Amino acid sequence: MRDAYRRILRYVPRYKVPLLLGALCVLGSRLLMVYAPRLLGQALNALERVDEGGVAEAVALGWTFLGVSVVAAALAYGMRRLLVGTSRRAARDLQRDLFAHVEALPATFFDRTRTGDLIARLTSDVEAVRFSLGPGLMYVGGTIVLFPVAVASMIDLSLSLTLAALVPLLMIMLVVRILGPGIMRRTRAVQESIGDLSARAQESFAGARVVRAYATEDVEERAFARENEGLVRETLSLANFRALMTGSLYVLGGGANLIVLWYGGRQVIDGDLGVGFLATFMLYVGMLIWPMISVGWVVSAFQRSAAAMERIDEIFDRPKEIPVLTEPVALPDRIRGAIRVTGLTFQHAGAARPALEDVSFEIAAGSTLALVGPVGAGKSTILSLLTREYEPPAGAIALDGADVTSIPLERLRAGFAVVPQEAFLFSNTLRSNLAYALGGELDAAKAREVLHIAGLDEELEHFPKGLETVVGERGLQLSGGQKQRATVARALLREAPILLLDDCLSAVDTQTEARILDRLRGAMRRRTAIVVAHRLSTVRDADHIVVLDAGRVIEAGTHAQLVDAGGWYGETYAEQRLEAEMEGLA
Ligand SMILES: Nc1ncnc2c1ncn2[C@@H]1O[C@H](COP(=O)(O)OP(=O)(O)OP(=O)(O)O)[C@@H](O)[C@H]1O
Ligand SMILES: [Mg+2]
Repeated sequence: MRDAYRRILRYVPRYKVPLLLGALCVLGSRLLMVYAPRLLGQALNALERVDEGGVAEAVALGWTFLGVSVVAAALAYGMRRLLVGTSRRAARDLQRDLFAHVEALPATFFDRTRTGDLIARLTSDVEAVRFSLGPGLMYVGGTIVLFPVAVASMIDLSLSLTLAALVPLLMIMLVVRILGPGIMRRTRAVQESIGDLSARAQESFAGARVVRAYATEDVEERAFARENEGLVRETLSLANFRALMTGSLYVLGGGANLIVLWYGGRQVIDGDLGVGFLATFMLYVGMLIWPMISVGWVVSAFQRSAAAMERIDEIFDRPKEIPVLTEPVALPDRIRGAIRVTGLTFQHAGAARPALEDVSFEIAAGSTLALVGPVGAGKSTILSLLTREYEPPAGAIALDGADVTSIPLERLRAGFAVVPQEAFLFSNTLRSNLAYALGGELDAAKAREVLHIAGLDEELEHFPKGLETVVGERGLQLSGGQKQRATVARALLREAPILLLDDCLSAVDTQTEARILDRLRGAMRRRTAIVVAHRLSTVRDADHIVVLDAGRVIEAGTHAQLVDAGGWYGETYAEQRLEAEMEGLA
């Protein structure tokens, strides 16, 4: 547990002043809280001496009581503001650092992490940590001050009565200890049920199209109802247990007061205790019940937050992407874009066999290379290794003669404009999605130019708000082809010397594709380009074509050479042409 708090404690020093002031407020408010009942007791005692000016004394004491209560309340207010506020700020810092850390993690991390789980760590786990730090420490600190001082004050009034009153109070602690674990267990079960229920709903909503297509609404409803039943069962079981606990606590609390009344009453009759102090005692008993109850609860809150902190630490302990793996080299100011791949073998973490084996090819700066081959051949893997999304082995890939592992990541990635195979747009306006490539403002003329090249300009006219149309989940639903072309336009805005296009026009019809490629050629002439495609007509003009199959280069050459050779490329090209002609006839 101490280990788990090591990291969070680093966030504390910057809030030294509010924390210190908060601690003083805790101390002051609790001391006054213990003092106030004594004043009340004295006031009541004074009323027994009406003849000897007791009333005036009682009134004076009453006013003092009021003053003390007001100050205690003000201090309690300050304590809450300072400590809860500080815990919120510390949690914000923790959250910000965690987010930044996740952003800097390598692709392999995201391959094997569920987004929902990451979000839970970023939100509910941080909240659990915050709770134990703010409200949790406040209760603990408050109790640590309150308990001994109140008990000392009680002993000062009557040792035997204190001992008698403490018996049921300690029994409260015992009840909490006995029933507490059961409550914890049931609370956790309820939380898990809520998690299951929302996961069920989330998946069902995300797959709404599939549900409709297969007309399985009733299956989904039944599955949801089942989870919901489970939640009701868990919740009722928790409520029962809570009721049992609350009931016992009421009985014990009442018992403590009864003992004070009975045993203390006899002391009053015997003249050992002023009747006013009997009231003081009862107020103390009431004051101590809550800390007794909350001790177990606070302990479990600390346990929960220690577990949460561990889960957060698991993320912090993941190494970030490493900017440079080997001795950094001096690159010229401008990356020209000559790429050489030699004997590249690569296996994804957790994969049974290598995705690439002994792959070699070369691209001169400014030329276009096509990567083709069947599904799963390793085309996308090559592109992800060029930008070091996954780390290639040292010495296998050189950019302008420098090993990519020796080029600082930021520098390396600035050299590439990438259109990934999975088109992804943020749920934002088309303009800001495009401007994402620039990291700044986008002027309309430039936007029109790239949208024209990507072949999206005509459709844009029909978008309700043009460039300001919100796309994605909360806006206009783009078609697969529209989305792909938007991502092409985004990549074109980035003035990078190397362009990587991963099957980025697969959802566009052949004629449109041909038109776009024609216009893209101008953009590609100024850059080194690697084009991945399944439709071979797309790549016939490439300077060099590499055919991959199951991670190996099986053919390489120009379109004419490969067609002549009559291997996989030649056969596939002939097949695809035949298909296209048949479509043309139909
Ligand atoms: N992140 C990953 N983790 C594990 N294995 C992976 C990962 N990405 C790809 N693979 C595996 O590596 C091999 C090559 O995949 P890759 O995505 O490079 O193929 P591809 O040629 O781009 O295929 P496609 O034409 O379908 O896009 C496949 O067997 C695939 O299962
Ligand atoms: Mg691919």
